[in-house]
Amino acid sequence: MKRKLIVITALMFVMPMVVQADAISQLQADYQAKGAGPFSAAAGEALWNKPFKDAKSGKERRCTTCHTTDLTQAGKHLRTGKVIEPMAPSANPKRLTKIKKIKKWFVRNCKWTLGRECTAQEKGDLLAFLKSL
Ligand code: HEC
Repeated sequence: MKRKLIVITALMFVMPMVVQADAISQLQADYQAKGAGPFSAAAGEALWNKPFKDAKSGKERRCTTCHTTDLTQAGKHLRTGKVIEPMAPSANPKRLTKIKKIKKWFVRNCKWTLGRECTAQEKGDLLAFLKSL
């Protein structure tokens, strides 16, 4: 009985950490369930740097427009000038740890940059690239 309690208590401490640290794997598993994968960091990097033309203004847009090309450095929002903390998890351990946050910004930023939502394959590739930094 006592041992059972110890195990349960230990699990209660460990579980939330495992779930949090694994936001990327969980999302990638979701994308795989939708038929995407395997994921490639190289494809993610290519998409991260790829220029897209905004239909209205004709101006070039990329992920790096706000996040910059050195992901260990802070970026700056193009319009608001607000500082964006470094994207690389190695430079910013809080990065890519919350599924809700990742999903929300994928929708917003893909729409703004690509003019459409990213596919499951693209999102899986982007995460493979970002987590390698
Ligand atoms: C117009 C500016 C802008 C562009 C362009 C942009 N982002 Fe972002 N991005 C932000 C802001 C602002 C946040 C939220 C603030 C933060 O997390 O520091 C964010 C957050 C994110 C997050 C959430 C990170 C986390 O810790 O959960 C991801 C993932 C992301 N962006 C991916 C992308 C991708 C992929 C592209 C290109 C398709 C892109 N962004 C282009 C401004 C931008």
